[in-house]
Amino acid sequence: MRVVRTIADLRALLRPLRKEGKRIGFVPTMGFLHEGHASLVRQSAARCDDTVVSIFVNPTQFGPSEDLANYPRDLERDQNLCLEAGATVIFLPEIGEIYPTGFQTHVEPGRLADPLCGRYRPGHFRGVTTVVAKLFSIVQPDLAFFGQKDFQQTVVIRRMARDLNLPVDVVVVPTVREADGLALSSRNAYLDEDARRRALCLHKGLLAASAAFAAGEREAVRLLEIARGAMVGVDSIQYLELVDTQNLEAIQGKVDRSSVICVAAYVGSTRLIDNVMLVPPH
Ligand code: PAF
Repeated sequence: MRVVRTIADLRALLRPLRKEGKRIGFVPTMGFLHEGHASLVRQSAARCDDTVVSIFVNPTQFGPSEDLANYPRDLERDQNLCLEAGATVIFLPEIGEIYPTGFQTHVEPGRLADPLCGRYRPGHFRGVTTVVAKLFSIVQPDLAFFGQKDFQQTVVIRRMARDLNLPVDVVVVPTVREADGLALSSRNAYLDEDARRRALCLHKGLLAASAAFAAGEREAVRLLEIARGAMVGVDSIQYLELVDTQNLEAIQGKVDRSSVICVAAYVGSTRLIDNVMLVPPH
């Protein structure tokens, strides 16, 4: 596994591979990797000849009151995880490599970035689309892998790739969970024992709604009530919404198409997100 820090070195490394017809997979990350990232890398390694993992804590997707400065980092552990999961290249740029002096061009996402997280994190998805577009342009992967936990992110990025005719397949990989159901997240590192135990109610609420849906409940309002009823352990729910998986618009009335319940909540000062898909049988 090679670790490269500059765009020029990465391009020089990937050029001959591409010439040989090698399929390049890409897993963009912000580091402090966990089993969720490992599963993305494994998927890429299974489907591609080479897998590039980028580790870059992207400042443009953090709001002024967010945790950029304290974002957890552990480079040595990240490198071991990448190696074990089958990555062949780690791209580890400095901030100035991605945002050199004079940088001023951004990728503006459309209305898919407005609801859910977008409502509470203004500018977040603009930061994500900008850095992902840049990384796609630098790596030029055939396939790029993203986790379903960040559901809105996957929808926004897929749209961006389509709208900008970027020649990459965006692959969404199911959320990896702890044995008790907690969705893996780099932010789980902030949870103490009590907060971690309380955070579990998010998954329980989503599971309860999903079970009610499987048992025939179709009223969006009722499904959200069921989910919220179980989410009593968190300190506050920022949003809990049932939306169409394609356009992210809230479902009114009956759930008659592929939908997803998305939640963002605070446990102490830690913001967690999770989701569950509801797919009506044909
Ligand atoms: O999901 C993330 O970790 C980030 O949003 C991403 C895609 C690496 C862009 O910085």
